[in-house]
Amino acid sequence: MSIRTRIAIVGAGPAGLLLGRILDTHGIDYVIVERKSLEYTLGRIRAGILEQGSVELLERLGLGERLRREGLEHRGIYLQFAGERHHIDFEKLIGRTVTVYGQQEVVKDLSRAHQAAGTAIYYEAEDVALDGIESERPRVTFRCRGEDVLIEADYVVGTDGFHGVCRPSIPDLEVYDREYPFAWLGVLASVRPSTDELIYALHADGFAMHSMRSMEVSRLYLQVPPDENIDDWPDDRIWEALHRRLGVPGWTLDEGEITDKSITPMRSFVASTMQHGRLFLAGDAAHIVPPTGAKGLNSAIADVAMLGEAIAAGYRGNPEPMSSYSRRALSRQWKTQYFSRWMTAMLHRDDRGDSSEYDYLAQLGQLRYVVESEFAQCSLAEQYTGLPYGL
Ligand code: FAD
Ligand code: DHB
Repeated sequence: MSIRTRIAIVGAGPAGLLLGRILDTHGIDYVIVERKSLEYTLGRIRAGILEQGSVELLERLGLGERLRREGLEHRGIYLQFAGERHHIDFEKLIGRTVTVYGQQEVVKDLSRAHQAAGTAIYYEAEDVALDGIESERPRVTFRCRGEDVLIEADYVVGTDGFHGVCRPSIPDLEVYDREYPFAWLGVLASVRPSTDELIYALHADGFAMHSMRSMEVSRLYLQVPPDENIDDWPDDRIWEALHRRLGVPGWTLDEGEITDKSITPMRSFVASTMQHGRLFLAGDAAHIVPPTGAKGLNSAIADVAMLGEAIAAGYRGNPEPMSSYSRRALSRQWKTQYFSRWMTAMLHRDDRGDSSEYDYLAQLGQLRYVVESEFAQCSLAEQYTGLPYGL
């Protein structure tokens, strides 16, 4: 089978699905190709916090109905260290907020909108490959339900995540990356959150965080070594560590049934370009951040917000936004890289090496500076709630 479309989107994660909805508002036709099944993409538990700009974009695209009803708007976060918990009030500092709404819910809303619009999405596509990205007619080929499919497009957009095929299709691509000596053990627990807003805690034993998905479901994280085996963390051990790292006098952490448990490694990664010929990259296909600061999903949303408008401008006869997309997206991304690395370094315990105790005490000094300085808090608030898109 052979298909002709304007934009071939590879990957139906949040970036690919959202780009499709943006293109719909401009009447630009496209086809989406996804390696996994719809059920699989709906079941992935990942990020949980939306920047204000992400919320505003989803609302503008008509995807805000359930988000408004079920999302939990938070005016700040708690920073905890040395047994003290301090509130950073973003709303008071800079008049901006964030919203707790799981990536799973965003993907569910987007998938429903695509189903209603009758979008052509090829799920369970095998052997997806790109060809001719340096030509006028780039192609995406794959097998779907036993049939060979060829898509001929004007442009290909790689929203196929970190392990996708699009980024490796760019010849001699330079990349920049950094690993961290820790990972996050994350659990979902069926229990009302014990806090009204997220708690980011540095404890002598390491980082811990109390987040949530709803008023009935808590999301909790613990710093663990990168090679940790999840089987070594029975529920009792997890709760014990959470009580110890998150505990402050006069506060209790309520326990509930753990329904999901996983370990996520941490990495920083940036591709040196987000465009090659007629291939554009967006989201995790181009860059990864460690999760501290909740930037992965929000960066993917920011990329496609910029790219969708750039593509629309291109079809209206203005090629400049498309040719500057990579530069603008990378400029925002490097600021996000810095913020995520800064939050990660400030809040995790690196107990390797001789300077471990020195580093921990310096981190406590930095955290105390943040909670005592309104300037530092404004900077954190501005970055956490989301930097503007370079439109
Ligand atoms: P993805 O969500 O990865 O979507 C890419 C899609 O492309 C997938 O559906 C994939 O199946 C598909 N695909 C891959 N290869 C191919 C192919 N060859 N052909 C066709 N389709 C393909 N961020 C946070 O901010 N906070 C968190 O707590 C957090 N937790 C995370 C936990 C995990 C385990 C992971 C992996 C990521 C987490 N992130 C978190 C990051 C965040 O989820 C991502 O930044 C976000 O999913 C990026 O969206 P995306 O659409 O760019 O990529
Ligand atoms: C969540 C994840 C993050 O990385 C973060 O910084 C805050 C919250 C979450 O999954 O809820």
